[in-house]
Amino acid sequence: MTRGKFITLEGGEGVGKTTNLIFIKDYLQQHGISVVVSREPGGTQLAEKIRQLLLDNNSEAVSETAELLMMFAARAQHIKHVIEPALAQGHWVLCDRFTDATYAYQGGGRNIKIGTINWLENLVQGTLKPDLTLLLDAPVEVGISRARERGAFDRFESEKIGFFETVRRAYLLQAELFPERIKLIKANQPLTDVQLAITDVIRSLPCLSTLTCPTPSSTDSVK
Ligand code: TMP
Repeated sequence: MTRGKFITLEGGEGVGKTTNLIFIKDYLQQHGISVVVSREPGGTQLAEKIRQLLLDNNSEAVSETAELLMMFAARAQHIKHVIEPALAQGHWVLCDRFTDATYAYQGGGRNIKIGTINWLENLVQGTLKPDLTLLLDAPVEVGISRARERGAFDRFESEKIGFFETVRRAYLLQAELFPERIKLIKANQPLTDVQLAITDVIRSLPCLSTLTCPTPSSTDSVK
């Protein structure tokens, strides 16, 4: 059984991750690939409970260290019970956020040392890394106003604009550090252009060469 591929989708608030996650899932399925879609924090019963705790806006103040450890506790469950079994069975896993979000939000936003995150990453993930990460990037004001149109804010969405600027810079730094894995997609352009950029990336990567994709037709990009 050939091991599946692990694709993650990243970006700040309101950059269009949900819409594009569905687009990527449909695109891969149209090409005969079995896709498991998941998200972080979350993806298992326990990890979803941890997610609720993390996003709860009415809780006591959450320490940066507690937040970091809860992210990785949820991730450990997710890897063991969802990601690893799916990849081993040949499914592709498409995940809404993963450890790059920890480098961006806890490393950038909360100013936690990169070495600390790196240590936990090694502990929790071993050698597991995404094969491909798509980073949707847009100016912070654009994303935040979109995210806030959705209604009540969670604990992260309630942060000040400076927090999100730092998160964005940390994401861009991750993309600079790992250019082979992390592909930057400009998210403040028409959706059809965003999705064409996404399919171009998916089709051109050597690690995804098992995918025999035709050139995307106009219906591939207009979803
Ligand atoms: P979502 O809104 O994309 O579902 O993600 C929930 C929030 O969790 C989002 O504001 C980013 C945050 N987050 C972190 O701070 N660190 C992480 O490692 C992950 C996966 C998410």
